[in-house]
Amino acid sequence: MSGVKDMKLAGSGRMKIEWAEAHMPVLMRIREGFRRDKPLKGVSVGFALHVTKETAVLVETLIAGGAKVAITGCNPLSTQDDVAAALAKNKVDVYAWRGETNEEYYENINRVLDHKPNITIDDGADLIFTVHKERTELLKDIRGGCEETTTGIIRLRAMENDGALKYPVMATNDADTKHMFDNHYGTGQSTIDGILRATSILFAGKVVVVGGYGWCGRGVAARAKGMGSQVIVTEVDPILALRAAMDGYMVMPMDDAACMGDIFITVTGDRDIIGKRHFEKMKSGAVVCNSGHFNIEIDIPELEKMSKGKKTIRDNVERYDLKDGRHIYLLAEGRLVNLAAAEGHPSEVMDMSFANQSMACRYIQDNDLEAGVHMIPREVDEMVARMKLETMGVRIDELTPEQRKYLESWEEGT
Ligand code: ADE
Repeated sequence: MSGVKDMKLAGSGRMKIEWAEAHMPVLMRIREGFRRDKPLKGVSVGFALHVTKETAVLVETLIAGGAKVAITGCNPLSTQDDVAAALAKNKVDVYAWRGETNEEYYENINRVLDHKPNITIDDGADLIFTVHKERTELLKDIRGGCEETTTGIIRLRAMENDGALKYPVMATNDADTKHMFDNHYGTGQSTIDGILRATSILFAGKVVVVGGYGWCGRGVAARAKGMGSQVIVTEVDPILALRAAMDGYMVMPMDDAACMGDIFITVTGDRDIIGKRHFEKMKSGAVVCNSGHFNIEIDIPELEKMSKGKKTIRDNVERYDLKDGRHIYLLAEGRLVNLAAAEGHPSEVMDMSFANQSMACRYIQDNDLEAGVHMIPREVDEMVARMKLETMGVRIDELTPEQRKYLESWEEGT
């Protein structure tokens, strides 16, 4: 029995899925191969991924390959209820709705695990953690897992180093055709999209403070700059900070940026990036949001304590009325603004991320991997890039035999 908000939304969800299919040509090509070869015949796949139209295309690709799928979300605010209904109507076991409580969220994780997955697909590693902490009886049936995001990979590597990771996990995030595009162009565009859908404010002339200059932060900063904002970057990593400075941004500690920003966007993957001492310095009317995986980057309990009240003034916009008379706008309850207030990354970029996910599932099925974190094979990464270029109508040069020999030899000098 699926758990979705409203099955009547299935028609609109199906149209969204068809739209995504039309913009995910690489994954659709892989689907054709899966339909023919059935590489996942009889395999039970458990998902904890944002339930979006793009994820639906991945789910239905694995089903075309012979898999049985049970899915829940990986964030309480990111499920697209119409897409969830459309999947449920297509006989997928779906346990996800927008606005789940924390308790419901973990109940749904467990309902997916009740399907005894052979492969887990996570964005944030909640299925993997739950299996290792509470459902160890399932380990014997699990051949492997896939992890979609940087935040999840960091924790899985920590588990691996402690000898605690009991099954092989493909680091989908670490494929070049994933993080160099999804994290950069995907997060860059969808974060701005989320802020615009929530607030409809003008970026031109605003001071935008971007917390973190990893792949995601670089994408967000570039898009904000392109829209005419003055961008300040905050960082803890000296190399990334240097890169931000040479990319032309102002770089300074958050303590200094706090009084200057009109819009604050955190994308660090760490906690407490914006806290009490920053809220104390902010201009009245500052907009604060997060695009990192968890809602811990902004210290919302402190903001609550500093406020005499709060009011939802638009969808995904809460105005916090501070005791000193200022107000601060918090978007999407500090959760991923790109998925909570918009539709997440565009289909074209998820095309590559989910091409990697589907090929990672096939790789797990075809190989007996040891417990630990595994890279996506380079051939898969390059295959995804070549297919994407082809679908974009972009041709590239090939090495001549002489060029290849030159690259492989050491004798030739000046
Ligand atoms: N993460 C970011 N954007 C996404 C999308 N559109 N679908 C699934 N996961 C995502």
